[in-house]
Amino acid sequence: MKIAMVGSGYVGLVSGACFADFGHDVVCIDKDQSKIDRLHDGVMPIYEPGLAELVGANVRAGRLTFTTTLAAGIKDADAIFIAVGTPSRRGDGHADLSYVYAVAKEIGEHLANDAVIVTKSTVPVGTGDAVERILQDSGNSHRFAVVSNPEFLREGAAIGDFKRPDRIVIGAEDEFGRDIMREVYRPLFLNEAPILFTGRRTSELIKYAANAFLATKITFINEMADLCEKVGADVQDVSRGIGMDNRIGAKFLHAGPGYGGSCFPKDTLALLKTAEDYDSPTRIVEAVVKTNESRKRAMGRKVLDAIGGAETARGKKVALLGLTFKPNTDDMRDSPAIAIAQTLVDAGVNVAAYDPEGMALAQPLMPEVAMQDDPYAAIADADAIAIVTEWDAFRALDLRRVKDIAKAPVLVDLRNIYRPEDVRALGFDYISVGRS
Ligand code: UDX
Repeated sequence: MKIAMVGSGYVGLVSGACFADFGHDVVCIDKDQSKIDRLHDGVMPIYEPGLAELVGANVRAGRLTFTTTLAAGIKDADAIFIAVGTPSRRGDGHADLSYVYAVAKEIGEHLANDAVIVTKSTVPVGTGDAVERILQDSGNSHRFAVVSNPEFLREGAAIGDFKRPDRIVIGAEDEFGRDIMREVYRPLFLNEAPILFTGRRTSELIKYAANAFLATKITFINEMADLCEKVGADVQDVSRGIGMDNRIGAKFLHAGPGYGGSCFPKDTLALLKTAEDYDSPTRIVEAVVKTNESRKRAMGRKVLDAIGGAETARGKKVALLGLTFKPNTDDMRDSPAIAIAQTLVDAGVNVAAYDPEGMALAQPLMPEVAMQDDPYAAIADADAIAIVTEWDAFRALDLRRVKDIAKAPVLVDLRNIYRPEDVRALGFDYISVGRS
C-alpha cells in the first residue's frame, strides 16, 4: 500500500511513522519547509517518546519520506490521509475547518489515480460530506471515496496506542472505501485489534462522544473529590470502589486539577457547537466544560489557602512542580498550571516553577513565573510547593531535602502522588485532592 499523510503534526507524523513500520510506503507531507527540513535531519517537531527512533528506522528502511509538495506526495497513493489541525475557531468555539477544506481542494486539483481520502483530523459531523463535495466540484475524473477514521492517540503514549488500539473506527459509505481501509489496517488485524465499520457521520460523532465521555468521567470524579474533602471520605477509594464495577471501569477516574490538553477542551466545545447547530443541547457536556474551567482557578485558590489565604499572600513564594497538562509531553495547551499560576500571580505571590519538558512553551504563557533548572531550585525558600503534573521525577523527590530548603514544609499535591501518612510523618503539612 502507498499512503500519503497530509499534515505532519502530532497525529500525521505518529500515524505516518507507524504505518511505515507496518511495511507500508508512506509519504508525510507538510507545507512548513523548515519542519520538513528538520524531519529530513531526524529532528522531531514534537516531543513524543520513541518517535525519533521510529521515524529514523523507517526512513533508513526507505519506507518513510517527507515532502512539502502535495501533488508529488499523493501520486500513486491508495489512501490519502488528511491529518491537519482543527483548532477552536477564535470567538465561537466551532472547529476551524479551513485547513481541512484547503487540503481537500488541493487533493481534488492534483489527484492522478483512484484513491481513498481519509479524514484523520478530528472533524465535526458532516465534514466528510463537505470534503466529498469539494472533491466532486474539482472535476476530477478518478474514483474516490471519503472515509472517516478518527484517532484516539494519547500524547506521551501515542505509538503504543497506535500499534495496540482498543479499537479502530472506520466510517465509510461504500465498499471501495472499506476495502482499502481493510488493507491499510491489515497488520493491525493481525494484532487482533477490533475494527468497527460504521457510517461516516457516525464515525465522526464517535470521536467527539468518546472524548466528551472521558472528560465527563474525570469531571465527575473531581466533583466527588470535592465532596470527599467535605465529608471526610477518600476519593481514591471511591474511584477503586466504583471502578471495580465493570459497567463503570477503573480508568479515567483520577481526581486532579482538571483536564487540559489539545483534545478534551477543544472537542467538548466543538461538540457543544454541533449540538447547538442541530438544536439538540447536551446539558451534561455543557456542565462538564463549565465545571472543569472553574476547577482550574479553584486549584489556584487551594494553593493560596495552603499559604494562609489571598489576603496575606503578597510577597510569599510558591514552587510549582510540573506545568504541562500531563506528564511525558511538552504540551501546555489548556494546562491547569496556566490558571493556577495566574491566580497566584494575581494575589502577588512570587511563583517559581520547574517542568522536565514544558518550560520553553510555558514561559510565554506565564511571563511572571521564574523557570528553574531543577525542582530544588524552585523549592528553595518556598512557602509552599504544589505538584501540578505527575511527572515520575516528582514521585522520587528527596523530601528531607525539600523540607530543609523550603521556608515552610507545605506540600500541595494536586495529583495525589504521595501517601498522606508518609509525607506527614516527615513533618509536612500535606494537602491533596479528595483525601483528608
Ligand atoms: C485524549 C484522549 O485520551 C485521546 O483518546 C484523544 O485522541 C485525545 O485526547 P490526551 O489529550 O493526550 O488524549 O491526554 P489524556 O491522557 O487523555 O489526558 C487528558 C487530560 O485529562 C490530562 O490533563 C490529564 O491529566 C487528565 N486526566 C486524565 C485526569 O485528570 N484524570 C484521569 O483520570 C485521566
